[in-house]
Parts: sequence; C-alpha cells; structure tokens
Amino acid sequence: SVGSIANEIVRKETVAPGFTLMEIRAPDIAEKIQAGQFMILRVDEAGERIPMSVADWDRERGTVTLVFQELGLSTKKLGLMEPGQRLANLAGPLGKAAEVGHFGTVAIVSGCFGTGPGYALAKALKGAGNRVIYIAEAFRGEFHFWLDRLAEVADRLIVASGDMTVGSARWAKDPLRDLLESEEIGRVYLIGCTFMMATCSRASEPFGVETRASLMPIMIDGTGMCGACRVNVAGETKLACVEGPEFAGRDVDWSELMERARGYLKEEERALDLWEI
Ligand code: FES
Repeated sequence: SVGSIANEIVRKETVAPGFTLMEIRAPDIAEKIQAGQFMILRVDEAGERIPMSVADWDRERGTVTLVFQELGLSTKKLGLMEPGQRLANLAGPLGKAAEVGHFGTVAIVSGCFGTGPGYALAKALKGAGNRVIYIAEAFRGEFHFWLDRLAEVADRLIVASGDMTVGSARWAKDPLRDLLESEEIGRVYLIGCTFMMATCSRASEPFGVETRASLMPIMIDGTGMCGACRVNVAGETKLACVEGPEFAGRDVDWSELMERARGYLKEEERALDLWEI
C-alpha cells in the first residue's frame, strides 16, 4: 500500500485544463467502494463538504482516485492541495452502487467530470460481461481526458466535443440517438452535467430503453439527514444521497433539477469572488 496517513494525497496530476486527478490514501473506502458510489470530503475543518464520485480505486494500494473540475471555491481549494498533505475529512462510500448486471450491449454517456466515474462504470459493466459502447462528451475538445483508458475498456468509443475539435459529433445526444436507431441497446447510463443528462435522457426516451442517470444535486451531509439533495423522481421526493444517486432518467424532473443547478452556479461564483478579494 501507498502512504501511511489516512486521507493523504499521494498523487496529483492535471489531466486537462482545469481538471485535476488526485489519488488519495483511503484503504477503508477503497476496500468497499463500487461503481456509482460517491464520497464527501472536506479540505479543511471549516471548509464546505464536497461530494465527489470516485473515478478509480486500488484495493491493494488502499487508494481512491478522483478527477474533478476546478470550478467553485471548494474545488479550487482542493486543487491547491499537494501530495503529502491530507484532507481534513473523507467519508464514504456513500449512496447506492450503480445497477450492474448483464444487459447485452450497454451505452455509457459521460460528460466533463463524469468521465471519471464513467470509466469506473465502464470497467464494472465490462466485467459483468457486457459489450460497452462509450460516448464521451466535453464542452471543448481540450477538456477530454482518459480517452486512452476509455478506448481500452470499451468495445467502441465515440467522442463528442462542443467545439467540434475532437471527435465526430458536437453533443452526445446525437450519436446516442444514432446508436439507439441502429442497434439493440440493453441499457443506457448517463453521468455528467445535468444538462447533458437531461438531453440524452430525452433522446433515449422514445426508444424505451432503460436509461439510468447518476444525479449529483447539492449535497451536504450525504446521509439523508439534511434534505439538501432532494430530487423529484416520478412525482415523489427522493434523497439522492441515500436513495440514489442513480435513478431512471424518464422519471426525473429535469427542468426542476436544471433550475436548481443554475442557482447553485451563482452561489459558487459569489463564494469564489469573496475568496479572491
Ligand atoms: Fe443531506 Fe442527502 S445530502 S439528505
């Protein structure tokens, strides 16, 4: 195993502009974690709790690997941490594992930071005997990372980028629709920003394929106590941290979720402004 102090950062890499990989020593979490689950970390005692999906883990080394985008105040602070330093707090694994079974051919669509946990999901679904078609989307071509790893684990990799600099499509929903039109897909998995998941969920709906979306609403305690992660699923209020984060895409109230995500972005910008003064 690597390092000796729990929560110690053992590796840090920039994988794309603004996207940082961190490998953290957390043997207890590494031992139990499964694809689809997440953790909540705190950089310092006074800091905000940051929910983070896990991109990879190594049970032997006793480490978990995250890839995050430095967007708000908390993730910027996290990005300043260096190997040898330790996080104040790391809790997990939280949430339910993704539904992994044998479904024949599956399609995974990930966007931005979702490509980290999407990779973990691809490995799990491949391990369960599925043929995996992976669609990776990024807002700009330069934001793609791990395309080599994805190509290794997936049977087919389709790349989309919003600026059309990398790959064959602009947005993931188009190759997803083409795929559903041309072959039998047992399941679709979506993981990434809310807008990408909403558009892909809507694109898959007419085909009647079970589509699982991994939601990442605002989370605070991650244990079902605070209610911050409420989402509307099939007309019922669900707590994403304990009842999710994965739900059937067709049941999710995407409009409400996108509205909330927009509000959150404003708060984040304000926090960042205050911090930079
Ligand atoms: Fe608090 Fe889910 S994060 S209830």
